[in-house]
Order: sequence, then C-alpha cells, then structure tokens
Amino acid sequence: MVYRYAPRRDDSDLASGRVLRSAPGTPGFPVRLASEIFQRATALRNSEGPVTLWDPCCGSGYLLTVLGLLHPERFHTIVATDVDEHALSLARANLALLTPQGLQERRQTLDELATAYGKPTHHEAVQAADRLLRQVGAIPAPAVRIGQADAFSPHQLTTSLQQVLPDLVITDVPYGQLTHWNTVTAPYAPSIPNLARSLATVVPPTTVVAITCRARRVPLEGLPTVSSFKVGHRSVVFLRAGDLPDHGTAGETV
Ligand SMILES: C[S@@+](CC[C@H](N)C(=O)[O-])C[C@H]1O[C@@H](n2cnc3c(N)ncnc32)[C@H](O)[C@@H]1O
Repeated sequence: MVYRYAPRRDDSDLASGRVLRSAPGTPGFPVRLASEIFQRATALRNSEGPVTLWDPCCGSGYLLTVLGLLHPERFHTIVATDVDEHALSLARANLALLTPQGLQERRQTLDELATAYGKPTHHEAVQAADRLLRQVGAIPAPAVRIGQADAFSPHQLTTSLQQVLPDLVITDVPYGQLTHWNTVTAPYAPSIPNLARSLATVVPPTTVVAITCRARRVPLEGLPTVSSFKVGHRSVVFLRAGDLPDHGTAGETV
C-alpha cells in the first residue's frame, strides 16, 4: 500500500490559493503525499520529538506550510531556501500562517475581500482560516528561517542555514513545465544527483533527505538510497546524508 501513514481526508482548507497564497509559476504539492513523505522520513530517523525540517527548493513554501499546519506539534524549526527571491517573498507570507497572528491577519484580509466582493470563495476561505486557527490553537509555532541560496552551492547553503542542523530535508525539484533549475556559478552542475551531493555536504550524517519529482523514478545515478515509492506521476526517494560520498566536504566545495 502506497499510503502507510497519511489517511485520506478532506484537505480543502489547505488548497493552494485559498488561505495559503499561490502565484503563477509557484506550483503547490499534493497535501496527502506531503504528509506521507514527512511521516516516512521521520520513521526512518527512529527518534521521537520535534524536528528541524528544511526545503532547499521551497518555492512558495507551500509544502512546508502545509506540513506545519497538518502536524503543528512535530516541528522545532522550519527552514525555507530557494534561489528565486520572488518565490521567497511568497514563502515568507505562507510560513507566517504557522503563527496564530499570521493566520489571524490572513483571515482579516480574506474577510475584507468577502465584504468587498461578496464572492462565495472568499467566505469559504474565511471559514477555512477559522478552522486552521482552531487547529494550530495553543501549540507553539516553530521557529522559521527563510533565506536565498542556490542549492548547488554549499557555500550559500551553509550561509543560509546559519548553523541550524536539519533533521529532515524534503524537497520537490523543478520539473521543467512551471519551474526550471536556475543556477549560474555553483560548483555542482544542476541535476538531481548533484542536488543530493550538494545537500549532503552541509547537513549532519543522520539527516534523512527526501527528494520528489514528476517522473517514473527519481534519477540518482547509483547514489545509495534508503527507500523509494511512487504515487501517480510523482516519485519519491529517501537518502541518508552520511551514506553519500560528498558528505562533510562543504569546506572543499565552496
Ligand atoms: C517545483 S518548485 C518547488 C515548489 C515547492 N515545493 C512549493 O511547495 O511551493 C521548484 C523550486 O526550485 C527552485 N530552484 C530552481 N533552481 C534552484 C536552485 N539552483 N537552488 C534552489 N532552488 C532552485 C525554483 O525557484 C522553484 O521554486
């Protein structure tokens, strides 16, 4: 069975463009699949307690925000980096929804839109914001770090992480229709195997890295993997940073 952890449920409150913001060129991500990847990754870590999660190609921050809202008690810190400044401004707005204050402000905006235009979609969005507010309730919000970094540059990644040590990395890579690799001077040429290599240089050996893309399988050129699965048009692979040959070599690749 593909879904071991994430039950089927109504995730419409988390739909991209409803309470969470969207923009052209910043694709969302299937909510149930995000939850399944996160729970499989935490199971691979074999340790309880809140984790630090990093998405190095975070786009609008949709995937991270959805996980933060679905599993509010499971995060200590959430780190969002991307090469694209425009995407990061959206990520900043979406990740602000992990705090009651941010959600309340968004609710206020949606309420003003509902009053001004009277559209059913705005009223539904206000109700969705109310339900999300009840969900995050009194749970302390995670710390959020957001920074610009080219995922193929260990130097930029190290600078953006600011000594935060991710337990988990989950990232949905560009697949060529809406988003593309964008890199200029990084030491690693853009490819999925090189993304894994680059990330492995800057995270602890125990960090579980989950990479997902729209393909029959995630191409990794023989890099050691822990497990993988496929749902519809998407494939997911899990790696452990310490298993990769480039682990711990950030100083050599800056
Ligand atoms: C499929 S989108 C990610 C969507 C994201 N998961 C979300 O929830 O919004 C891929 C992202 O990779 C980013 N990207 C492309 N080249 C990059 C690079 N060299 N380093 C970091 N991010 C990069 C793009 O800017 C884009 O935001």
